[in-house]
Amino acid sequence: MNYTTDCLIIGSGAAGLTLALGIADKAKVIVLSKESACAGSTNYAQGGIAGVYNIKDDDDSIQAHIKDTCIAGGYLCDEKTVEFVAKNAHDAIQWLIDTGVLFDQKEDTPKEDQSPYHLHREGGHSHRRIFHSEDHTGRSIQETLVAKAKAHKNITILEDRNAIDLITTKKLGLVGNRVIGAYVLNTESNHVETISAKFVALCTGGASKVYQYTCNPEVSSGDGIAMAYRAGCRVANMEFNQFHPTTLYCDADRNFLLTEALRGEGAQLKRPDGSRFMQDYDERLELAPRDITARAIDHEMKKLGAHCMYLDISFKEPEFLKKHFPTIYERCLKVGIDITKQPIPIVPAAHFTCGGIMVDRKAKTDIDGLYAIGECAYTGFHGANRLASNSLLECVVYGKAAATNILKHLGDEDDFENYPIPDWDESQVTNSDEEVIITHNWHELRLTMWDYVGIVRTNKRLERAMHRIEMLKREVHEYYSHFRVTSNLLELRNLLQVAEIIVKSAMMRHESRGLHYNLDYPKTDEHSGPTILNP
Ligand code: FAD
Ligand code: SIN
Repeated sequence: MNYTTDCLIIGSGAAGLTLALGIADKAKVIVLSKESACAGSTNYAQGGIAGVYNIKDDDDSIQAHIKDTCIAGGYLCDEKTVEFVAKNAHDAIQWLIDTGVLFDQKEDTPKEDQSPYHLHREGGHSHRRIFHSEDHTGRSIQETLVAKAKAHKNITILEDRNAIDLITTKKLGLVGNRVIGAYVLNTESNHVETISAKFVALCTGGASKVYQYTCNPEVSSGDGIAMAYRAGCRVANMEFNQFHPTTLYCDADRNFLLTEALRGEGAQLKRPDGSRFMQDYDERLELAPRDITARAIDHEMKKLGAHCMYLDISFKEPEFLKKHFPTIYERCLKVGIDITKQPIPIVPAAHFTCGGIMVDRKAKTDIDGLYAIGECAYTGFHGANRLASNSLLECVVYGKAAATNILKHLGDEDDFENYPIPDWDESQVTNSDEEVIITHNWHELRLTMWDYVGIVRTNKRLERAMHRIEMLKREVHEYYSHFRVTSNLLELRNLLQVAEIIVKSAMMRHESRGLHYNLDYPKTDEHSGPTILNP
């Protein structure tokens, strides 16, 4: 089945649904989701959303939020963007509250000039400024936005749809470079559908699935970044992939995140012998930004030959832990760890893609009519390392900015339905007979990235990784040209594209900064800028 709409939004997380709800009173919207509507990273966010809502809360200020973001970002953030997002945080949080998200409130009556909200603190933040719903903030936001979107008559959510590629006037040999739709694999029917649209927004989330160990869900395979790059968009800062310091280390449950808010409440990092180690790395101890903490854990593990380090919050009152961190308490208990009594085994894992598709402050990309919002976009906000809980904030602020811009131009493109978009051509391909190539190459790529392009890099490791990626890319290209597309094939093709971009970007940065640490260039340059790749 083919569709036509005003705005096609690829992705149903915080970014996609903020945009959808922002324009749906005036425009017809189709929102795609690769699996169920709640399957993206938004649903898994624990800590919360950062923002200065009321300066009387913890004597905070927008300036302090800006400063913390720039320090965590290794001074590679675009200051104007940081100011833009920090200033719009109040409205973004208010919008979520008005939309129905229930953030935790203080137990005691707040002072007259303070807000009623209970705020968490996380690494790199100088103040308590994280709005949260217990330890499942993402689920509260995701479910609220999905319910609102499903109830809106102008929004159609199509689940089990895997967008393959953007359709642009340039690809059709027409004038200019305007996006006019996308080809999408319906994974239920196995047919490729054509969706034509006046505007398209990529809200596909990050690419952390490119690494062997990640706390991200299956859908985070960098599809939007790969699609945009293939269509001619610039991408930036892809060498900066964030590794979260604390994910659960246990055979039965390898990808579960242990929120940084635990460290905000005093949790300590310990070696297997019970001694603390963060004092050897940073004066902020466990509240140092993530790049420093993850590197410290990685260093201790390698030094001691240990499989994991430990996070200890067992000194807190059990009732406090069960009330504030119920999801973590239950999940750990399921695998035999009682966080009220014992330290939790942890390892770092790939968590967040700081770079992405280059956009301006209206979320517009290099292609007319194409927007990118959320984790797949590069706005300049995160620099070399994202400050905790700044991502959901960016999704909402930029979702709203894109909505304002799209509404302004809704009447501009009246003849878009007349573009001669051909249907997807399957006449030259057959069903795959060697699915093993996909599974083998998928594992090989993710292990290569983990071993050679991880927390600590060297020139030699980057070269090795590039060599393997080039080989795998050739094999997969050959496969793609002969066989019908499947979700696994599409994801592998995108992951390879993103892996190549990450390694190229890492090779271009001749310094260590934030999340990019290269033993061959251990110093930080005095002046630096974003790494930009032009396809
Ligand atoms: P997502 O929420 O990831 O949504 C992506 C959407 O795109 C999905 O609907 C997916 O199905 C769809 N999609 C992808 N590819 C395709 C395709 N080819 N075709 C069709 N659809 C596609 N950030 C914070 O600020 N605070 C936190 O506390 C926090 N905690 C986190 C905890 C965990 C475990 C994780 C993984 C991340 C956390 N983050 C946190 C980061 C934050 O959750 C994400 O960066 C943010 O939610 C991304 O939102 P998004 O809308 O850009 O993408
Ligand atoms: C966490 O809760 O530690 C994750 C927060 C984030 O990634 O912003």
